[in-house]
Amino acid sequence: MTFPLPRWIAHRGGGSLAPENTLAGIRLAAAMGFMAVEFDVMLSADGTPVLIHDETLERTTTGQGPVSATPDAVLFRLDAGGGEPVPRYADAVALCRQLGLLANVEIKPASGFERETAEAVARLSGELWQGAGVQPLISSFSLEALEIARDLAPQIPRGLLYEQVPADWWSVARRLGAVTMHCAADRLPTEVLAEARAHGIPVLCYTVNTAQDAESLFDRGVSAIFTDRLDLFAPETTPYKGLHLGG
Ligand code: G3P
Ligand code: MG
Repeated sequence: MTFPLPRWIAHRGGGSLAPENTLAGIRLAAAMGFMAVEFDVMLSADGTPVLIHDETLERTTTGQGPVSATPDAVLFRLDAGGGEPVPRYADAVALCRQLGLLANVEIKPASGFERETAEAVARLSGELWQGAGVQPLISSFSLEALEIARDLAPQIPRGLLYEQVPADWWSVARRLGAVTMHCAADRLPTEVLAEARAHGIPVLCYTVNTAQDAESLFDRGVSAIFTDRLDLFAPETTPYKGLHLGG
């Protein structure tokens, strides 16, 4: 399969220029010329996959308490910033497909909900992206979630996601059939980059918000960065390179 990995990926939808993890953010990223967006997906109390980063509602919405304890009837009435609702994952996929955006779907389970979240997101992803020219890239800090995604939606490429890359990352990548490795920009040892290059695995770094940091990472061989600073890195109209990922 071909996943045309761009150099810049808008983080949490529209980065810091729009309310995070909202459809407005995704629209803004596309309007600014981004080819790819990353967003976080968690389950509501009703088991609906929605876009949100924190396990609790306070920071990004007008609600209170854990997302996993909030029913849809309450959740979808909240303001996630600028009058935007918390989006259903299904609506975000429809929008990405309509806009022709690549999506990095980060499965972000509330703790204790790893299995349920991964099962729901993987199953729904298989349905929602059916027939799409380009599949999304699924990533997660939860290895259990990636294992479940591999088993339930093997056709969708997977990326390992780390803060600190462990020494055995490559054997984990092989076991999970991961095609990319994502890590914190300031926790990327040169040996890991060399190992990734040797195995043909693109490295994607988050969260990069200065041109200087981006340039230095690209110089070191990083393939793509996640950024909140859409204003710094847009517009982009051509893929950085077309990478053949997966089988
Ligand atoms: O997937 C890359 C990045 O989004 C991981 O960190 O906390 O912003 O989801 P976070
Ligand atoms: Mg994320």
